[in-house]
Amino acid sequence: MATSKIEQLRQLREQSQAGGGAERIKRQRAQNKMTARERIEMLLDRGSFHELDAFVVHRETNFGMDKQTYLGDSVITGWGTIDGRLVYVFSQDFTVFGGSLSGAHAEKVCKVMDMAMRNGAPIIGINDSGGARIQEGVVSLGGYADIFLRNTLASGVVPQISAIMGPCAGGAVYSPALTDFIFMVNETSHMFITGPDVVKTVTGEDVTFEELGGASAHATKSGVAHMTAESEASCLYLIREMISYLPSNNMEDPPHRPSKDDPLRTEAALDTIVPDNPNKPYDIKDVIHLIVDNQEFYEIQEHYAENIVVGFARLGGHSVGIVANQPMVLAGVLDINSSEKAGRFVRFCDCFNIPLIVFEDVPGFLPGLDQEHGGIIRNGAKLLYAFCEATVPKITVVTRKAYGGAYCVMNSKHIRADLNLAWPTAEIAVMGPDGAVNIIFRRELATAEDPVARKAELVEHYREQFANPYTAAQRGYIDDVIEPSQTRPRLINALNMLQNKRDQNPPKKHGNIPL
Ligand code: HXC
Repeated sequence: MATSKIEQLRQLREQSQAGGGAERIKRQRAQNKMTARERIEMLLDRGSFHELDAFVVHRETNFGMDKQTYLGDSVITGWGTIDGRLVYVFSQDFTVFGGSLSGAHAEKVCKVMDMAMRNGAPIIGINDSGGARIQEGVVSLGGYADIFLRNTLASGVVPQISAIMGPCAGGAVYSPALTDFIFMVNETSHMFITGPDVVKTVTGEDVTFEELGGASAHATKSGVAHMTAESEASCLYLIREMISYLPSNNMEDPPHRPSKDDPLRTEAALDTIVPDNPNKPYDIKDVIHLIVDNQEFYEIQEHYAENIVVGFARLGGHSVGIVANQPMVLAGVLDINSSEKAGRFVRFCDCFNIPLIVFEDVPGFLPGLDQEHGGIIRNGAKLLYAFCEATVPKITVVTRKAYGGAYCVMNSKHIRADLNLAWPTAEIAVMGPDGAVNIIFRRELATAEDPVARKAELVEHYREQFANPYTAAQRGYIDDVIEPSQTRPRLINALNMLQNKRDQNPPKKHGNIPL
């Protein structure tokens, strides 16, 4: 008797693991997609997955649905480990009703999200779904809303990561959108509010799935995707790697991972990396690579708003969030997209106790009608707000320009940066020499005998007087001017010094960031 019961359990489990059946699994593979279960196996440490709710079924009876049930319905949920650390996962199974979200599917996702929150571990969602289960109507919509609520409540409590590995359309996109990071796979994942057919009907535009909502569109144009990968396997690997930089929840510090890279390593190349000509660019990513542990920089939104660079790295084993102006793109100016990109990243790091390292070379905010009418005031304020509000250890290194309002925004001393360092090449002033001379000496230049020669003279004088770090250092706005080659040991020392930093904002329900 006992044996037959065990046999029955085994059969039921096997049935549950078969998803929508061999034929549909074949179709999934033909599209270059793994099954929901294979994705989980690849994401987690080998053999660590523990499944929940394998026997849950949908409860719809209309449209002959009572004759089509699949054990586990259209999502697989549970927990496991990544590098030995606990994570919770859900993975939508496209082979069961196109991975569509039934009431039961939503309940499974909510259960695992609640457990992630309660037990303080990241939640990773793998999305591959035709959206709301059409046969279930409003039950499905309610299920989505239940998930959105949990995404919002979990925000800032546990890291939330979304992988898009198939369609993700309509209101369904808002669950990933509420999470911290979205990963997409080239060619096989798509996100949009309305598909190409609706777009054609409403606006007359002809677009393909890929143009409208493919990984490349979201990585370069909309900024919706934070990471993209060529294959599902590399996407899952990237998620594992990201987890290594993050604490499990907001009450923990990120994991410390000592490396063989000498914390006292100096880097002579940094002494000559900033060109003598202030208008000549250099690649800030070279600077980052030379300074961080093992040259490992996990860049986020690499191809969106490339005038600012953000991502994770380690310094002396400490996880850090790096924000750096990129002189190679638009001279590193701040504009709408870069302010929003960096603002959100700064807030993520602050939520999860990840110290911020800022490399600053910024000539100011981008002028122009497009920028003003697009709301550079409102959007630039997001980055300013994010830096002001952040209470994690905050360190700035001014490599070259720190002009105007952008000086204040980029983690200046005045907005609670803990340590502000500058290289001797730093230029810290209200504006660049050219612009400044044009304004202060407008009248004199208008009547000068040789305005060109006189202007050159005045620019040179201004540069000598103001385009350096010492005026700011005299006032203590810059704590020290350092040799660029020393940057790595100085930063690691500062991180150690700030390890027990305690700072807080005034008690309030929540602030009102300019959205
Ligand atoms: C129920 C669905 C389904 C859905 C797909 N299926 N979407 N079942 N509800 N939403 C089923 C199909 O009937 C089919 O079943 C199987 O899943 C695979 O679908 P195919 O169409 O054969 O696959 P494919 O050609 O790859 O096309 C995938 C697709 C297409 C592009 C996702 O299925 C599609 O357009 N689906 C509908 C998408 C949609 O409009 N969803 C509602 C959006 S509104 P069989 O038995 O043949 O395998 C929404 C609102 C959310 O989501 C609001 C939140 C607030």
